Amino acid sequence: MNAPTEILRHEDAGVLTLTLHRPDKKNALTAAMYATLADQLNEAAQAQAVKVVVLQGSEQVFTAGNDLQDFRDHPPVPGSEPPAPVYRFLEALRTFPKPLLAAVAGPAVGIGTTLLLHCDLVHAADNAAFSLPFVNLGLCPEAGASVLLPALVGRQRASELLLMGEAFYADEALEMGLVNRVVPPPALHAGVQALAARLATRPLSALMATKALMKRSQPALQEVMDAEFAQFGQMLRAPACREALDAFMAKRKPDFTGM
Ligand code: COA
Repeated sequence: MNAPTEILRHEDAGVLTLTLHRPDKKNALTAAMYATLADQLNEAAQAQAVKVVVLQGSEQVFTAGNDLQDFRDHPPVPGSEPPAPVYRFLEALRTFPKPLLAAVAGPAVGIGTTLLLHCDLVHAADNAAFSLPFVNLGLCPEAGASVLLPALVGRQRASELLLMGEAFYADEALEMGLVNRVVPPPALHAGVQALAARLATRPLSALMATKALMKRSQPALQEVMDAEFAQFGQMLRAPACREALDAFMAKRKPDFTGM
């Protein structure tokens, strides 16, 4: 449980920056990292001094998504009490009331892409590679992606991204409205910090009211996310996902014959 060193925290002039820092595993997210992220977001939601939060990885990788070893060895239990750390993180994202920015470089796999659907402004480096490989792991969408993605890009395009699970890149993400801007990797983090600093000069009450009003059109999101989480939890324990996870660990291709 060494998440505090894997989630770096920096606060300056109203901007809290949370940096995913597990470089040897491509910033894959463990239960401990989700717990830290959830705690940090929940504290930032209450803290008077924090106006804006930035989520980022490195210039090489945003995140390889959920840690697959964790998925295999400790799959989250839907409806557990206390809730699984990943569930707490998703709830913290869904309900975060202040501007949430993301800076994405390199791979943004699975939850690395779906969490962006909860961010208010997203900048990507031109090396960013997004993917939603749930089907290829025997899984289903999470984080509200089954409704947020079709709402953003249209049903057919969302189907292509979710059913094929193939990577797509920064220009396509820009064109579909998933990201606001694409920049060279060395300019990414400074650019997002400058944007966050400008936002932090605005009155917090106006920022929060604006965000809350834009989210009024998503009243059923919690129900959708809970249904996704329940289905995802079941599928994590089913043969197709077990085969995909075993294959990843063994560095071989999965064999879904007959599944
Ligand atoms: N969970 C656990 N470990 C992961 C991981 C993940 N999601 N993603 C990468 N790693 C580990 C690798 O096993 C490897 O560990 P090792 O050095 O001990 O063998 C290390 O991180 C480096 O990964 P590697 O695959 O060699 O890096 P790459 O640059 O060639 O590819 C990715 C990067 C992200 C494209 C690739 O690692 C990948 O596809 N990962 C799985 C992503 C995934 O399916 N996530 C779940 C989504 S729901």
